[in-house]
Amino acid sequence: MRKPLPEPWRVKVIEKVELLSREERERVLAEAGYSIFAIPSEAIFIDLLTDSGTSAMSDWQWAGIMQGDEAYAAARNFFHLKEVVEEVFGFPYFLPAHQGRAAESLFFSWLLRDGKGKMIPSNTHFDTARANIEVNGGICVDMVVDDIRNPHSELPFKGNMDLVKLRRFLETTPREDVPICMLTLTNNAGGGQPVSLANVKATSELCREFGVPLYIDACRFAENAWFIKQREEGQGQRSVAEIVREVFSHAEGFTMSAKKDGLVNIGGLFCTRDQDMINHLKERILVAEGFPTYGGLASRDLEAMARGLREVLDERYLAFRTGQVALFGEMLTERRVPILKPTGGHAVYLNAGGLLSHIPPHHLPGHSLIVELYREGGVRAAELGSAMQGNVNPDTGEMETLAAIELVRIAIPRRVYTNDHLEYVADVLGEIAQRKEELKGYRFTKHARTIPKSMRHFLAQFEEIR
Ligand code: F0G
Repeated sequence: MRKPLPEPWRVKVIEKVELLSREERERVLAEAGYSIFAIPSEAIFIDLLTDSGTSAMSDWQWAGIMQGDEAYAAARNFFHLKEVVEEVFGFPYFLPAHQGRAAESLFFSWLLRDGKGKMIPSNTHFDTARANIEVNGGICVDMVVDDIRNPHSELPFKGNMDLVKLRRFLETTPREDVPICMLTLTNNAGGGQPVSLANVKATSELCREFGVPLYIDACRFAENAWFIKQREEGQGQRSVAEIVREVFSHAEGFTMSAKKDGLVNIGGLFCTRDQDMINHLKERILVAEGFPTYGGLASRDLEAMARGLREVLDERYLAFRTGQVALFGEMLTERRVPILKPTGGHAVYLNAGGLLSHIPPHHLPGHSLIVELYREGGVRAAELGSAMQGNVNPDTGEMETLAAIELVRIAIPRRVYTNDHLEYVADVLGEIAQRKEELKGYRFTKHARTIPKSMRHFLAQFEEIR
């Protein structure tokens, strides 16, 4: 059988990467306090920490960078971006933001201004949305379908909102306590799993029945639409652009980090149909980020974002992209490394708790695996388990609550690494899996105290339990 088509682009510029010696990697780890975030990027051979802000831009985007109109107000690139937002998403009002959490901060600080205890249901809130809701006194309620916790379930849309739970919640919670409902597309914290069009539509109808506006966390909107085209009955003949338009027609607004499907290294958006809200947010953005036509970005960044948002709808690109992630998942399965199935849009999630069953969750098996991956192969990945989602007592360092499942995320930057790079990573993981009993647990030695717990892992340090 013929293989799927290779990358629908050719390489114009390269960036050198280096694999340090094993002794050097060991030294780097110790100096970084075994925190993967503290390792200098230059000491990393293949960096799969995140797909966010790590994309390679196209020649068309770089050409747009040269066409930045760096006027303080009303630069032409703002109007180009406005045209793209209307065309791609069908939204009349928007503000640029320098990244996703800046849009979230702007939105939630306004939305939750009238007092504490407001509740925001979602399929699963991503950590930055969670942190921005919590610092503004709100409460996050996750209502994803139960299958998400089963690593063996191969449901095509494991990111879906559980509509039974949502209905029960809306029926039993006073309307004034629920300012909005959210859907995260794709569901990053839950394995990069997509949400079906039918589920978006049904969530939106349910919200309308109870008078609650539906907002979307839209970071990976194009990958989500591609999965709808591939997996949902009756959608195969439609273009991704058409599917995106329909998904967003069901929402009152969205926040977006354009560092993912916007194909840029920095940038974000806030969009709404609510004119009154956008007028208030324009006043806030002036205080916090800058003039409302640039929102904390240079105009050249607005141009790159405008071009990236169009470019990402290219279906040959999306076929290669999701195909590469799926292929990497197959390489890992062949090497007996347990992964969550089906593979998501932007990453493969390893079942670290399953692989390292001799390390109990409070000794952070996911963290142990990412440290070993760097030690053995110079590869960086992210822990999505109890080090990230659990609650550690800041005085004793003991774990008080644990994550539902101990995962490691191997995120694939867009248009950056070849399948050979990924095969190398799969080989390293395969070797680690064969001698997994040698891996030891970890404990926290240092952690931030003043920020919401969903963000603490960024600044934490660890030691091996011997
Ligand atoms: N929402 C989702 C679903 C995300 O995945 C992210 C970022 C954000 C919001 C915040 O965007 O970083 O531009 O402020 N996710 C990155 C990741 C950090 O690695 O998954 P941001």
